[in-house]
Amino acid sequence: MLRRLPVYLALALLTVSCADSKDEPAAAVDEDATAAMDAVKAATDELDDAADAGAGVNLDNGKALFATCTACHGASGEGNMALNAPGIAGQSESYLKRQLWEFKNGERGAHAGDIAGAQMKPMADALVDGQAVTDVAAYVASLAPTVPPTTVDGDAANGEKLYNSKCGACHGGRAWGNEALYTPRLTMLGDAYIVRQVTNFREGMRGSGDDAVYGKQMASMAKVVSDQELSDIVAFVNELAAGE
Ligand code: HEC
Ligand code: HEC
Repeated sequence: MLRRLPVYLALALLTVSCADSKDEPAAAVDEDATAAMDAVKAATDELDDAADAGAGVNLDNGKALFATCTACHGASGEGNMALNAPGIAGQSESYLKRQLWEFKNGERGAHAGDIAGAQMKPMADALVDGQAVTDVAAYVASLAPTVPPTTVDGDAANGEKLYNSKCGACHGGRAWGNEALYTPRLTMLGDAYIVRQVTNFREGMRGSGDDAVYGKQMASMAKVVSDQELSDIVAFVNELAAGE
């Protein structure tokens, strides 16, 4: 609720500025409206959670915070399949921030049955504020993506066709993600993790909440692949990762 407040304020500002500038030249109205729209956009941006903390990104702080993460995600953020922890190094900063907030606000990791998510939730909760989230996300995003071990068997050639027709438009031809479409990079995650997340989306453990604007897109996509198709797709993603 509190996080929404700036949006309402900005919308109020937009309404007021439109009403106020009725008698002014059109250009001025446009300027006011543009400024207010920019304010709305900024307020809806997760970055704003950091701006609330009053400072820019502090990579040194991010590095210090990352020390706790290495226990599960590995010294280089490469992930640890045995602990169900995905590779996070080199993931998009905005996606990392969004996920950390979703764990914090219970959108992710709070559903009965989401055992792996439940392990991550307290770690996100321990990041005290928007500044901590922003700093650690920026640091993790700055690390080089790694190549995960292969654990799922599948037909990569069939997976390539499936990936290109069902996933590539949003996650990119090389599965590097697309910041403009809010999609994460897939190559360093780890195949078993990808399978689990698509299953989580399909079963409503992710992407089903009212606020899960981006998760909802993925939740509908998760329903268009069978388990076998998913194995083939991750086999292809493994090939992409190995070829990097
Ligand atoms: C106790 C082990 C553990 C620790 C410590 C831990 N994590 Fe995690 N993390 C996990 C697990 C397990 C998952 C997978 C959750 C799932 O399957 O939904 C995860 C998932 C994530 C995700 C979601 C990745 C994605 O691709 O969506 C992010 C981001 C993340 N962790 C960041 C961090 C950061 C940053 C820290 C340190 C502040 C941290 N984790 C500490 C276990 C841990
Ligand atoms: C319409 C666009 C779209 C398509 C098509 C799409 N995705 Fe996604 N996907 C997303 C978005 C957006 C997210 C981020 C959701 C969030 O922020 O919670 C996502 C998230 C994911 C995640 C979670 C990654 C992580 O780090 O936890 C996986 C795995 C994934 N997609 C796999 C796939 C696969 C496999 C396909 C093809 C069957 C596919 N996606 C097709 C939009 C799409």
